Amino acid sequence: MHQIFETSNIGSIKLKNRIIRSATGDGLADPDGRPTELLIEFYTKLAIGGAGAIITGFTGIQPNGKSSTYHQLMFDRDDFIDDYKKLTSTIHSYGTPIILQLNHCGRQTRQKATGLPTVAPSARRDLYFLEKRPRELTEREIEEIIMNFAKAIARAQKAGFDGVQLHLAHGFLLSEFLSSNMNKRRDRWGGTLENKFRIIERIFSEARKGVGDFPILVKMNAYDTRKNGMRIPEAVEIAKLLKQAGCAAIEVSCGVVNDGFITIRSKQFPTQAALEYSYLLSYLPGFIKKIMEPFIPLSTALIVPLPKVLAKYNVEAAEIIKKNVDIPIIVVGGIKKLSDVEEILAHNRADYVAMSRAFIIEPDIVNRFREKRQTESSCISCNYCITCIERMPFKCFYGKVRA
Ligand SMILES: Cc1cc2nc3c(=O)[nH]c(=O)nc-3n(C[C@H](O)[C@H](O)[C@H](O)COP(=O)(O)O)c2cc1C
Repeated sequence: MHQIFETSNIGSIKLKNRIIRSATGDGLADPDGRPTELLIEFYTKLAIGGAGAIITGFTGIQPNGKSSTYHQLMFDRDDFIDDYKKLTSTIHSYGTPIILQLNHCGRQTRQKATGLPTVAPSARRDLYFLEKRPRELTEREIEEIIMNFAKAIARAQKAGFDGVQLHLAHGFLLSEFLSSNMNKRRDRWGGTLENKFRIIERIFSEARKGVGDFPILVKMNAYDTRKNGMRIPEAVEIAKLLKQAGCAAIEVSCGVVNDGFITIRSKQFPTQAALEYSYLLSYLPGFIKKIMEPFIPLSTALIVPLPKVLAKYNVEAAEIIKKNVDIPIIVVGGIKKLSDVEEILAHNRADYVAMSRAFIIEPDIVNRFREKRQTESSCISCNYCITCIERMPFKCFYGKVRA
């Protein structure tokens, strides 16, 4: 039985409590991907606000894996180490650990953002981004990606991060390798689970040569809604392989971008925000937007139905993985109430709870919970924050496009 406000360890990381800020891309890097003063200011609010540990927004390991989101963090250059040191030392001065999430976007990006052709395990087109079909990675390019992850992990250690989290979730490159829906390779990088997992196993082993037992965590999907995609039984097997590879903790999430709002759930489609800020709709002439407006929720629901379960939707999956694999489990997704956090931890359904949107509207949500000033996040899950993310830094819109 876990208590929320007890300290604990994930490897050498000493967490202040069991509520973690889940990775949240914020668009607060500079145009090259360095952390800015504004980013440090926001992370400071999270640290002062009581987060048990902070996981950064996804951070690119090489240019063709960069995200199409606004001003994403990058850590593909040694000369960024000092900039990141400023971030880690500030957050450490509040006694809060900080973990760097590392990612390659695979096909879930835009050529306009990277300036390079999009690549993926297999040449299968993404139906959300609607970019040209991605190019299948060559074996040499896969080796390069492995080395670039390992180099970024070594940079993270030098920059003072307490650990890194590999992004194996949400349909980005490493998640694409794990999914039989997206990975159709017939060589040693596809087909069997061992082959699909090979890139991840290699990242762990290459990284270990340089960083010793520096904590390497992952965020992975327990399931998605794609045909032949990820399902819980396979996720359990992946968790076992991760344990063998020396993973420090697993954050359990779900869904790929093509699934619609499965990962980041909402009662309704964020129509207003999509018309104003989304990459595909915002550039349409005003009168077309007016005509389309009433049909958007219906047409998107026909393509990807909105999920019915909106609260703590990954807890069952996390619990199954936890029962099968002896590794610290973090669960994320629709957790907004103090009573839910208490229930998950008290019944050992997971070892840690992570939240994203709750920290956008109230960066001090953990202190509010601890001091019983609030027992529930004020987030209304309008999802405008994620809808604007290709166009500007994130913010809480609280369901209104204009204040
Ligand atoms: C604005 C925004 C940015 C996000 N960026 C990331 C990211 O960089 N990496 C990641 O793994 N998940 C990202 N997510 C997903 C969250 O970490 C989390 O998995 C999801 O929002 C569900 O948790 P919640 O219900 O607590 O918001 C993002 C979510 C939002 C709202």
